[in-house]
Formats: sequence, structure tokens, C-alpha cells
Amino acid sequence: MRRLLFAANWKMHLGPEEARAYLKAFRSRYNRREDRDVWFFPPAVSIEAAAQATRERADLQVGVQDIYWEPKGAYTGAVSAPLALQAGARATLIGHSERRHVFGETDADTRRKVAAALAAGLVPILCVGETLVERDAGHTLTVVMRQLAAAIGGTEGTPLSRLVVAYEPVWAIGTGRNATPADASAVHREIRAWLASRLGGGAAQPRVLYGGSVNLKNCAELLAEPELDGVLVGGASLDPEGWAQLVQTSAP
Ligand code: 13P
Repeated sequence: MRRLLFAANWKMHLGPEEARAYLKAFRSRYNRREDRDVWFFPPAVSIEAAAQATRERADLQVGVQDIYWEPKGAYTGAVSAPLALQAGARATLIGHSERRHVFGETDADTRRKVAAALAAGLVPILCVGETLVERDAGHTLTVVMRQLAAAIGGTEGTPLSRLVVAYEPVWAIGTGRNATPADASAVHREIRAWLASRLGGGAAQPRVLYGGSVNLKNCAELLAEPELDGVLVGGASLDPEGWAQLVQTSAP
């Protein structure tokens, strides 16, 4: 059975106090379902509060939005994988488009971060996706495959079954314009084929999520595509009631 993953990227919202209140509200509205996981990615300062508020629930996990690849040292402002783990994170986003486009993160950085996450025991969620200019030029797959190859190519032999890939077209993030289910599905199929050819076609393949303007209205039709193992959601995850409703979405 496909086990769906609903990941909430809170971005730069919800401090520790707000995170506690959010999770209390979410838990009172969300009727647990055995076929899905719900992961929260709060700002680093709220990880511990969120982890405590979900601690006896295996289906609810907390992650960090970004890590630096060194485990510790004189890196002012940075959070390492072992430090995030200590605060209660079990996963990390890597290469989110805002890290790439606002903070100048490179493909080479994503490679170091994936390695650091795996070394520390965090599940890496590698985010890939093309800009509108790249899409219009017909370069979607070239860009996505380049990002995948740069981050995890040549790592054959490394156990990557715990890796998650999130396809987030940059033009769909925060714009209200989501990829059509068919468009998302076509890219997911290519990502899966690439992963299978590089990592071997073993039973445990990485899950592939879609992200970009997912909301209550479009979630069901997106999840109706068997290529989608779940969703990575920004704006629509910030309201706990709405998010609880979205997480309970069934594919039609
Ligand atoms: P929105 O859902 O706000 O478009 O954000 C998507 C995203 O960036 C999730 O990581």
C-alpha cells in the first residue's frame, strides 16, 4: 500500500509558543489514519517545542528546514544535522528553492548536505524543480535531472532508500498556480526512473512528493495520481484546522 507523506513547510512562521498552540489545535482536529505520515518543518527555534508536542505519535514527525554540512564549529547562524537531531528533528529539507534562489545555495551544497543528513541519521528531503524561464525553454527535465545528479549521483552503494525527493516547480511555489496533476506526474515518472537506474530497482525506492500551491481544493486530484507519494505544502499548512483537513484528503 502506498503510504502517503504530508509535509508542512512552515518557512519563517510560527515561533515556539505558536508551534505548541498549532499542534494542539491540529491534534484535536486530525483523526489519525494508518496510511499516512505527517511531518512538520518549523523554523529551527521551534523544533524542540514541535517535537515535544508530537512525541508519542510515530505518525507525526518533525524536521528542520535546512542544515549546514559541518557537524559543529565556528559557523555563526548555522544549524548542523546532529544539532537538529538533538532538538528532535528526524528529517531535513535540502535544496528548497528559497535556499537556492534567495540564499544562493548551489548544487554542490546540496550534495554535502545530503551526505551530512544521512551521516547523522536524518531523512533528507531533496527539493528539485525548474524556474518558469527554464520550463518555457523546455528544460524542465534537464534541470531536474541535473539537480538530482549533483546531489546524489555517484552515490551508488550508499543506502538511499530513506531519501525523499520533492518536485517543486519554482513557478508554482507561493503563486497559487500549481502544476496540473498530469504535468507533475510526468516529471515524477522521470524522477523515479532516474532513481531506479542509479540506485537499483530494489523494493525500497525513495518517495517522491509534489510541492507548489497545494491546497484543499487541488490536493485530492493531485493525489489521485499514483506517481505522487505525498505533498510538500507551504502556505496551506499554516492554519492547523485547514492542514488537518488537507491531511485527511482522500484521493478520489
Ligand atoms: P506553497 O505551498 O506556499 O506554494 O509552498 C510550497 C513550498 O515551497 C513547500 O516547500
